[in-house]
Amino acid sequence: MYLHGTSRINERGHLEIGGCDTVELAQRFGTPLYVYDEALIREKCRSYVQAFRESGFAFQVAYASKAFCTMAMCKLVEEEGLSLDVVSGGELYTALQAGFPAERIHFHGNNKSPEEMRMGLDANIGCFVVDNFYELALLEEMAQERGVVVNILLRVTPGVEAHTHEYISTGQQDSKFGFDVLSGQALEAMHLAQRSTAFKLLGVHSHIGSQIFDTDGFVIAIARLAELLREAKEKDGFISEVLNVGGGFGIRYTAEDTPLTPREYVQAITQAVRAEFAKHDLPLPELWIEPGRSIVGDAGTTLYRIGSVKEIPNLRKYVAVDGGMTDNLRPALYEARYEAAVANRMTEPVNDLVSVAGKCCETGDMLIWDLPLQHAQPGDILAVSCTGAYGYAMSNNYNRIGRPAVVFVKDGEAECVVERESLADLIRHDRLPNRHHVHR
Ligand code: LLP
Repeated sequence: MYLHGTSRINERGHLEIGGCDTVELAQRFGTPLYVYDEALIREKCRSYVQAFRESGFAFQVAYASKAFCTMAMCKLVEEEGLSLDVVSGGELYTALQAGFPAERIHFHGNNKSPEEMRMGLDANIGCFVVDNFYELALLEEMAQERGVVVNILLRVTPGVEAHTHEYISTGQQDSKFGFDVLSGQALEAMHLAQRSTAFKLLGVHSHIGSQIFDTDGFVIAIARLAELLREAKEKDGFISEVLNVGGGFGIRYTAEDTPLTPREYVQAITQAVRAEFAKHDLPLPELWIEPGRSIVGDAGTTLYRIGSVKEIPNLRKYVAVDGGMTDNLRPALYEARYEAAVANRMTEPVNDLVSVAGKCCETGDMLIWDLPLQHAQPGDILAVSCTGAYGYAMSNNYNRIGRPAVVFVKDGEAECVVERESLADLIRHDRLPNRHHVHR
């Protein structure tokens, strides 16, 4: 397993994160357990901020909370001075409950309900990212009712595809997200938004995909966005104050992944904006980005306890853990790959080859295929690295399995930031029907 952040092997030969022995964490908090290296999350936040400071651009780094949204995470992001991207009333509620400053919240989503818009308006959030004509009309009506002027960005689809997996590409023309640029819808929406007294149109937004390893997609998207803004300037005299180029910066899950550093992504983006805006004689906008995965992804490690070990002679060795697609849906959904190690045998030779099975009643519930591993025994602790993004966020209760607890570790201290779901939690919303007549 690739050791990064504060991860290391301690004197006992155990995996340690944030100065905490993971075997002890598993004993104390139970398994499965999401462990977050707080110092590493903060380091990631700071590296984006630092890169922008060096660029000379005015900027906002908005953490895309969908990657991992809990009150503790919102608090941490607030402390680091970042803004926050939310996509639902639930994420917005979590942020507000954590005391996140509303003016630094950006509300995304392709189908915000009237209730969600109301929540955002009540809280007086920093801006809405309007996705389509329906939302534009709805938000205008609600703003007019209140007599307020709402800051908005328009999400546009610049026709760029940057992806490592089909399901996580959102920037191509045929997408459920955003106003299409090529057909002229984006320009039309900008025209409408500017004419409305309900809006202050700050600028445009695009998000071209996720887990992106190079900068070409961003550069092409920025070129198209600059063209769009030139047209808007010619047509309506519109000057964009803000350009939001979304998130999608890749991380290393396995040795096959070769991400750039936050600085490299930011440099490519700022250079492209400088060049393209100069080409069209447009003033430089304030630049916003929305990293999610690259802030929290590699800071998260999931600890499992190993149970059954089943060896099919000459075929495969299955090592089953006490979690699976309920706490990490990504392997089943995207064929996502991970690295892992036996946390209590870190100094032992990696000379076994196993496949890690989850415990759900589903053949597809496999966490890792063909994993080189130390010789594992029932009762051992398996640590799967880089599960910090979209792990807890997409966790679920399939097979009525409770969601694991989440702990933040730092300087030898571990703090539980999300309690483990109990059996009682699982039936909390169940109601037995109270029918008087049972027909037999
Ligand atoms: N901004 C917008 C508008 C987005 O749609 C997304 C991700 C982000 C920012 C953050 O992207 P990131 O930096 O985290 O790549 N569940 C999938 C990922 C879906 C991403 C959806 N949008 C996964 O587990 O890989």
